[in-house]
Amino acid sequence: MTALDLSSPVAVVGTGTMGQGIAQVALVAGHPVRLYDSVDGRAREAADAIGARLDRLVEKDRLTGAERDAARARLTSAESLDALADCALVVEAVVERLDVKQELFRALEDVVGDDCLLATNTSSLSVTAVGGALRVPGRFVGLHFFNPAPLLPLVEVVSGFATDPASATRAYETARAWGKTPVTCADTPGFVVNRVARPFYAEALAVHELRAADPATIDAVLRESGGFRMGAFELTDLIGQDVNESVTHSVWQAFFQDVRFTPSLSQRRLVESGRLGRKSGQGWYDYREGAERPGPHTAPPAEAPAYVVVEGDLGPAAELVELIREAGVEVRPADGYGAGRIVLPDGGTLCLTDGGLPGSEDLVHFDLALDYRAATRIALSASAGVRPGLLSGATGLFQALGKKVSVVGDVPGMIVARTVARIIDLAFDAVARGVATPDDVDTAMRLGVNYPLGPFEWNRRLRDTWARDLLSHIHEWEPSGRCAPSLALHRHAAAADAREGTPS
Ligand SMILES: NC(=O)c1ccc[n+]([C@@H]2O[C@H](COP(=O)([O-])OP(=O)(O)OC[C@H]3O[C@@H](n4cnc5c(N)ncnc54)[C@H](O)[C@@H]3O)[C@@H](O)[C@H]2O)c1
Repeated sequence: MTALDLSSPVAVVGTGTMGQGIAQVALVAGHPVRLYDSVDGRAREAADAIGARLDRLVEKDRLTGAERDAARARLTSAESLDALADCALVVEAVVERLDVKQELFRALEDVVGDDCLLATNTSSLSVTAVGGALRVPGRFVGLHFFNPAPLLPLVEVVSGFATDPASATRAYETARAWGKTPVTCADTPGFVVNRVARPFYAEALAVHELRAADPATIDAVLRESGGFRMGAFELTDLIGQDVNESVTHSVWQAFFQDVRFTPSLSQRRLVESGRLGRKSGQGWYDYREGAERPGPHTAPPAEAPAYVVVEGDLGPAAELVELIREAGVEVRPADGYGAGRIVLPDGGTLCLTDGGLPGSEDLVHFDLALDYRAATRIALSASAGVRPGLLSGATGLFQALGKKVSVVGDVPGMIVARTVARIIDLAFDAVARGVATPDDVDTAMRLGVNYPLGPFEWNRRLRDTWARDLLSHIHEWEPSGRCAPSLALHRHAAAADAREGTPS
């Protein structure tokens, strides 16, 4: 099954933000495109807006004048659905309401031919439900573009229960021919991206609600240590707190209020107070004129220890040994085998967070980094009774490696580690449930939300048992079940235990 022929007309119904973007993509790819919107005049306005965007592409040398003129000539606005009769594909991008979408598709089916592919751009409704009332449901598919559609490459091609595999393949190939990177996925709440990405927001909110760190510090740790392009608070301010909360809420509801997707009370209050983010002038941060953005908590300079003793294997933090040596701090060998820790001259210990609480006056946890060499900030955490000298020795050590240090409260799994482990867990769970392949999940998360690594790539860099062990520990301290590892992650880790001969 191949992509639609470029001479086949494509219709876009609903010409708001997404409809305009999708129409531009199909148009620039070479199709004749028809626009239809139920509000009088809106399709014409959309055609003008798309024309203006084509002009800008010419100014930026991304399109020639002749290509722009040809594209404009292929773009028409329709006064009624009847004008879409000869279309080979209709992409719907109307308001996110099941009744409106179902009614539209019923009406469309009376107009278009039986071989016309019908697609919905819904983000949160079930594709199966939207296409449920169709006479020929096999030609119905989800084509989930991301905003702005002309710029973002990812398209989730969603098969509902009744979708004919040939229709999904045709939609996939067509998206590819349009220059997009499609991934195939099953019709489950949030598809791939909006499902697997939930912990990125939820864990940051949870850490903040536990008063372990403020938004600026959590954002800085996610960026500078976790390698995420933006922190969760600044990103949701950009997306809109109402938009982000509504996705979380709809995924949680659609999973019958599964505790793993529980929305956040503090985000709810933010939305209720009208602090929707950049668009309303205030969200987690203040964007009004003259407002200053608070900086992250950064520890003052502290003295580096003269030497450290490294016991055992530091696992995902093993690179630190090399970095400590390069910083001129002597690394002494341990007498015996230890559980993977850095011991300071005064006997105090530093460990990568294991998902528990430090809980001892002699122990400081540090957070996971995507890449300890590239990280510019490291979070440290200790329990209330920690010896002050130990925290300052730990701070001095990381500062000697050129890192800024943020001291955060003792939340199991800290910030980056719990976030990454939960993303990995949801990715394993989604694959086990047939939502998508591991490669497609990785592609979706890199392209849909700009993660530095896909969850499976991330997992390969860690250890096969790391996420399971971390989440199991967190679950001991926070037994709500929110962070409990899934069966799929348990299976994966148990297989690794069996390979290594460790009882699970
Ligand atoms: N905005 C995003 O970031 C985003 C991203 C991915 C998917 N989506 C999905 O895309 C769809 C559209 O979202 P949007 O942000 O472009 O909305 P929008 O409000 O910008 O545009 C919706 C358009 O649909 C028109 N419309 C409403 N009912 C109609 C009907 N019965 N027939 C024809 N036109 C109708 C409206 O007049 C409006 O012009 C939704 O399903 C949404 O979930 C949105």
